[in-house]
Amino acid sequence: VSAVLNTPDTPTSHALHLLPLAGRIGAEVRGVRLSGHLAPDTFAELRQALYRHKVLFLRGQQHLDDAEQQAFARLFGDLVPHPTVPSRQGTQILELDSNHGGRANSWHTDVTFEAAYPQVSVLRAVVVPDHGGDTVWANTAAAYDELSPALKALADQLWALHGNDYDYAATRLEPDANGARQYHEVFTSRLIEAEHPVVRVHPVTGERTLVAGHFVKRFIGHNTQDSDHLFALFQNHITRPENTVRWHWTPGDVAIWDNRATQHYAINDYGDQHRVVRRVTVAGDVPVSVDGQRSRKRTS
Ligand SMILES: [Fe+2]
Repeated sequence: VSAVLNTPDTPTSHALHLLPLAGRIGAEVRGVRLSGHLAPDTFAELRQALYRHKVLFLRGQQHLDDAEQQAFARLFGDLVPHPTVPSRQGTQILELDSNHGGRANSWHTDVTFEAAYPQVSVLRAVVVPDHGGDTVWANTAAAYDELSPALKALADQLWALHGNDYDYAATRLEPDANGARQYHEVFTSRLIEAEHPVVRVHPVTGERTLVAGHFVKRFIGHNTQDSDHLFALFQNHITRPENTVRWHWTPGDVAIWDNRATQHYAINDYGDQHRVVRRVTVAGDVPVSVDGQRSRKRTS
């Protein structure tokens, strides 16, 4: 299966109505009411579609509350709360509120400072701006696929150190400086670091995907100058518009992404309009490099 195809698998899709969105990533799913009680066939097709399209969008899921969002996400596996940011009371849900620093406007894969970072994220729109506040996803399998043979060989060998103490000020253009600072303090209250291969083999699809994003601190065995160049080289391939899909939110929309094969970016273009989204993440596996080495937690 080529990573650059975004067309539905032909023979098996009966239960799901799938509409591919961009050329390389993203599909809207129609006619499904998400819950913890999805028919097994429907869920199996949904999961299959997720591996193929990397991010799925469903409109009109206003019936979901926190409990039902969790029940649905649990069909993929055990849920895992954010390691430092407290969940909403009595849940494992991370709420991102624009009034309290919840503006993820730089490219990342969720929680890559953990060795076994989440495999799937499920995000539900609660309050959205009239205009602006879109999210963009990028296909990290297609990004690897488009590299030249020489760059693939380089990427295959590289490892990077990821940490939760990334430079949050680098991309901030604030209407919300205090909220952002407080959120960052909570986010980094305990240093968490992991070493990942720059290329991991997806355990389900077998695709090679690039592992980068804003939690990368440097490349192992390289100084910061070389690390910055290497980061820009791979990150630019990942975030090329051809590799992306952009979603304009309506309340009740749900996005489900394969966190092992994507990065995303929440566009911070809505000023002081209010935006609230709620995310649950499904526990992931430890990444494995092309030569079979596993990511490791870094203890300092
Ligand atoms: Fe995120």
